Amino acid sequence: MDSVSEMKMNSLKDLEHRAKACTNCGLRSGCRGVVFGEGNIDSPVMFVGEGPGQTEDELGRPFVGKAGQLLDKILLAAELPRETVYITNIVKCRPPGNRTPNTQEMQACLPWLRQQFALMRPRFMVLLGLAATHGILEPNLKMGQSHGQWFEKGNVLIMPTYHPAAILRNPALRKPAWEDFQKISQTVHE
Ligand code: URA
Repeated sequence: MDSVSEMKMNSLKDLEHRAKACTNCGLRSGCRGVVFGEGNIDSPVMFVGEGPGQTEDELGRPFVGKAGQLLDKILLAAELPRETVYITNIVKCRPPGNRTPNTQEMQACLPWLRQQFALMRPRFMVLLGLAATHGILEPNLKMGQSHGQWFEKGNVLIMPTYHPAAILRNPALRKPAWEDFQKISQTVHE
């Protein structure tokens, strides 16, 4: 590992350490632990989900339950194997009963994501589902209209796509989601 990556890794470890002591919102008191994120910190692409579910809360890792297993398969098929990308969530603590995090909770947690982003500087960000899309892009966006489109924000290209849990619930989303991931792969590998 070169010295720049090493410094980045140390800064991220320090950030994670601080995130673990966060009390910015009420979610921390109702979960087992903070799920900070994991993956290749030098990846050009960062995936952002909604928040940890039960399995993620238990294991301290993002996207390791049923939705995560589907995400792994899609990533592999899109030639973006999980270990080559970085994966995190818009809220780092499991909302009770897996409910969607509210606007206040997302706003309270966003500084952690912003700092992760500032240290890693990915060129692309993929928003998995509406919560991340609303929290990061615009609160009124509809997934049906915005998925598969690149939104330019600063120097970053951001694409909303379907959350893997939504694909599991509704198999009709498989095709449009797969098309989005092909587009993501193509752009990342260009
Ligand atoms: N769903 C999410 O949005 N994130 C996870 O980490 C797991 C499930």
